[in-house]
Amino acid sequence: MTEKRCKTAILISGSGSNLQSFIDRVGDGDIEIVVVLSSRPDAHGLVRARKAGIDSVCVEPRDHVDREQYDRAVAAELERWQPDLLILAGFMCILSPWFVRRYEGRILNIHPALLPAYPGLHTHERVIEAGDTAHGATVHFVTDELDAGPRVVQGRLPTLAGESADALAARVLAIEHQIYPEAARWFAERRLQFRDGHAWLQDKRLAEPVQFEFDADGKRI
Ligand code: GRF
Repeated sequence: MTEKRCKTAILISGSGSNLQSFIDRVGDGDIEIVVVLSSRPDAHGLVRARKAGIDSVCVEPRDHVDREQYDRAVAAELERWQPDLLILAGFMCILSPWFVRRYEGRILNIHPALLPAYPGLHTHERVIEAGDTAHGATVHFVTDELDAGPRVVQGRLPTLAGESADALAARVLAIEHQIYPEAARWFAERRLQFRDGHAWLQDKRLAEPVQFEFDADGKRI
């Protein structure tokens, strides 16, 4: 990062509500959203980007023979904006080892579960099925292994008896919108780094992610 602000690319595939949480906080930190890249032309996040006056681009997987060729096309687009940080916000493509190496230590993802519990899909249904009393979301650095990179911060909330998966997902999404821009801000301020395969905050290795507790209404405790 040579300039003052952290040039940030946000990668999406869908609604882009996490993207919106970044857009809403632009101006109160060192993050500058330079481009929104979508894997789908109909992603609502593209509309959000356009409304906010942010450059956007769509690169579709079906136009490429395999994952790495797709990732090379994504990187070629991104390089027009020279991003310092990549934010995966509901980007539904699994990144190739080539891409992860290309941007090593500069890719963050948010996953709707308290990792290492429930990597993969359908996390809310699985939490309800297991009868867990707590659930949440995790921001982590991206490595080759799906949903397994060094964890940075977790937002945790109580589950409610009889709650549907959709209702629980909505409550988790609301806390994602609070913790994700916060973690990105730490990165932009260079307080958060990826070194030796670990996450470091204020020069301390994070053996466990930072924990933010929320009540059932999504208020930070
Ligand atoms: C969120 O649940 C996020 O945790 C997951 O994908 C979803 C994206 O939602 N990685 P949105 O597109 O930001 O609304």
